[in-house]
Amino acid sequence: MEILNKTAVVEKLNQLLINYQVHYQNLRLFHWNVKGPFFFILHEKFEELYNEAALKIDEVAERILALDGTPKGSLKNILANANVESYAELLEANKMVSAIVDANKVLIENVDELLKEANQIGDEGTLDIFTSYIQELQKQNWMLKSFLN
Ligand SMILES: [Fe+2]
Repeated sequence: MEILNKTAVVEKLNQLLINYQVHYQNLRLFHWNVKGPFFFILHEKFEELYNEAALKIDEVAERILALDGTPKGSLKNILANANVESYAELLEANKMVSAIVDANKVLIENVDELLKEANQIGDEGTLDIFTSYIQELQKQNWMLKSFLN
């Protein structure tokens, strides 16, 4: 089936790509700089999360290409357009975890908007890939919030 107006879907995908890349960089930073009694747990968890994020980033970019779009990934463009906050080098461990929860909320909203656009044009391929993103991010947030309580 010919997908008619892919522009809005590609735009939402690019926004997701930009937000995920800031999130990824935050996760690396947290992995390196986390300190305190939960160092071993969090250092490893943050690595697991940035590895997952890296796979997502590639999947998002390649979906953009499959829809004949151009993935936007320059650092200038990322910094100018991200909705996920870019954090400073040093944060307290719990702040790192709640920063990830906040970023996940932004990503969930972003994916939600993407799915709505994809639904409007009957873009089954995009719906198929990204529907699971929301569940995964929500599950992550449940676990991260359990850690914080
Ligand atoms: Fe490492």
